[in-house]
Amino acid sequence: MGDIDRAGVEKAYERWAPVYDLVFGKVFDEGRQSTIAEANRIGGRILDVGVGTGLSLSDYARTTKICGVDISEPMLRRAQQRVRELKLSNVEVLAVMDAKNLAFADNLFDAVVAQYVITAVPDPEATLDDFIRVLKPGGELILVNHIGAETGPRRMFELAFAPIARRLGWRPEFPWARLTNWAARHGGVTLAERRPMPPLGHFSLIRYRKN
Ligand SMILES: C[S@@+](CC[C@H](N)C(=O)[O-])C[C@H]1O[C@@H](n2cnc3c(N)ncnc32)[C@H](O)[C@@H]1O
Repeated sequence: MGDIDRAGVEKAYERWAPVYDLVFGKVFDEGRQSTIAEANRIGGRILDVGVGTGLSLSDYARTTKICGVDISEPMLRRAQQRVRELKLSNVEVLAVMDAKNLAFADNLFDAVVAQYVITAVPDPEATLDDFIRVLKPGGELILVNHIGAETGPRRMFELAFAPIARRLGWRPEFPWARLTNWAARHGGVTLAERRPMPPLGHFSLIRYRKN
């Protein structure tokens, strides 16, 4: 089965950008709001990776300082427009950047947020490593993601749908074990929470604390 590559993801999101808010605005909203509530609880300097069209930017507390990065320039252009229109002066940086090679110093952010991103990158484990690198000790990585079923008909469907989903830019079969294996190998993080999220609880809000 072909895997995700950067050029493919960029192409997919170039196509998604004009209609993204319409298609994915409402359906993923509870996951987005819940992640931002967790980020606001922590406050300080926050990195939003795969910020996309910036649907969440206005939900961050105005007392936070936000850096948003994304691999797709067409998605980011929409985020920039949103920042201007809504006068979001707490958004300090919006930049094209690969989630796996963040151009930020170590131990810089109080929280790193990645909504619906980690299952769409070519190398999720290396990407998670870089999220933790830029987090301050005690800081939190806050993810919301589709997590594939372990067994049963949903697993069969997700495996069957995977090749089409690759072309749309994500992996529907991404298993929870991949995250637990990554955390065990990394050794510097503690799972703080896994919370089921709509639609249908097939998504999860996941928080890791940097030790
Ligand atoms: C499903 S969208 C989520 C956008 C936004 N977080 C939201 O909740 O609406 C995934 C986003 O991740 C971005 N992305 C995919 N691969 C990336 C990478 N390697 N580095 C940075 N961003 C990436 C895409 O361009 C897209 O904007």
